[in-house]
Order: sequence, then C-alpha cells, then structure tokens
Amino acid sequence: GLMRELKGIDVMELELKHLLGIKKVVIVPGDSDESAMVKGELGKASAICMKKLLSGKNIIAVTGGSTMAAVAERLTPELNQQELLFVPARGGVGEDVANQANTICSNMAKNTDSKHRVFYVPDQVSSEIYQSLIREPDIHEVLKLIKSASMVLHGIGDAITMAERRKTNPEIKEKLESGEAVGEAFGYYFNEQGEIVHKVSTIGLQLQDLAHIPNVIAVAGGTSKAKAIKAYFKQAPASTILITDEGVAKRLLKG
Ligand code: F6P
Repeated sequence: GLMRELKGIDVMELELKHLLGIKKVVIVPGDSDESAMVKGELGKASAICMKKLLSGKNIIAVTGGSTMAAVAERLTPELNQQELLFVPARGGVGEDVANQANTICSNMAKNTDSKHRVFYVPDQVSSEIYQSLIREPDIHEVLKLIKSASMVLHGIGDAITMAERRKTNPEIKEKLESGEAVGEAFGYYFNEQGEIVHKVSTIGLQLQDLAHIPNVIAVAGGTSKAKAIKAYFKQAPASTILITDEGVAKRLLKG
C-alpha cells in the first residue's frame, strides 16, 4: 500500500533480508521501544504470515515473552481452517506468568478455537532429573509433539535485558558480560559473532532442532533489539522468516 511505499518499507525488507541472509523479512512501521501499538502490529503481521504458511495438520511450538503474548492477542478463529495444536517450545525460562509459553499457547488456542498442551518443567535440571523427567509419559508426549512441530514462533531478546528479567545468578551474569553476549533466543545467549556464550539447560526444543522444522517465524522489534537480532541470525537457519519493525530495520541498515 501507499503507506508502505512512502516509508520505503518494501525496499528495507529486501535490504534487511539480504543483510541477514534469510528467507524473508516483514517490517511494520514504527518502533516497538516507543509504542506498545507497534507490538500489536507485529502480532497482526505474524498472524497474516502464519495464515499463508499453515496447511494440513499443524503443531505450532511457541516461546514466551511479551512479543509472543502480543501475537496471541492478534490470532483469530479465521486461522483455524487447518487443525492447530499449540505447544510450548521449551520448559520454563523464568518469565512472569503472562509471558510464559504455557499461558501464551493457551491464549493462542482460545483465540483460534483450537487446542494446546501444557509443559511444566523447571529451568535448570541435573542430568539425573532430566533423564527421569523425559521418561514421564506426559513430558515424553509433549517432547515428541515439539520435535514434530511444523511451525515455530519465537521471540528474540537483548541478552542483558533477558538475564535481568530472569533474575539470572551473578556467576552466569558475569559469564554473559565477559563473553559479551548481546542476544538471546530459546534460552541461548549469543555474542555479536553469533557464538553461543551460554545456554539455559531446559527440556524441549534445542537450537539444532530448528533445521528440521519447515516454518520458523521469529518476531522481534524495537531499536534496542537490533544488535540481538543481527547476532541471532548469524546462527539461525536461513529459512527463518523475521517479522520486525522499522526501528530495527533503520538501525541495522544504517551500519
Ligand atoms: O523468554 C522467552 C523469550 O522468547 C526469549 O527467548 C526472548 O529473548 C524473549 O522471550 C523476548 O521477550 P520480549 O518479546 O518480551 O522482548
């Protein structure tokens, strides 16, 4: 539309796609750091993108965070032309209830008139506990669903912001600082080169599983996340679709 052309958004989408080396970029006008409405627009753009990609039966694995919560708000029963099942991508990663993947999946299911599964597992588990947890029938079943997801919807965050939000202990914080972590996704913290500085060991989707999932949609906006997004895409599968905002695009295309 005219709005998009006036702002040169179509051009920025192509430029950013080339810069990040990924399949597709969708940019919404504005900056999520400055207005909560922009997060709503990210949600709307995500719903449109999902609709285009869904076909047949769909298991959709979802992460936590306020952006994913905003995506949930924008999903409608219209999406449910296909059979949908929402599952949390990973066990708890230290979010407030409203921003937990379990809550978000439940809202996504409610808003699309479809189903969801819950996945309650603690963040940090010893390998002994891990081995016994994955034998629990409920957990085992959800893990199988996660690994066979046809779509992943996930957030990306600034590393230090996320460490603070998760009340990360001082030793790990020190590790993130000395390792110059800038970005975070799925519990993995990355430096500017896209190397993993630290990983929260929880059950569920692992970074290497993304390669086997047909549709991966990352949703993240706000100028303050620009570095994080650039770092994450040094690691992420090239098949990922990024839904972001003008704030991020302008910052990344500038230099
Ligand atoms: O904690 C879940 C998570 O998806 C993180 O992986 C990500 O960094 C963060 O949430 C994004 O949160 P927000 O959308 O609130 O910035």
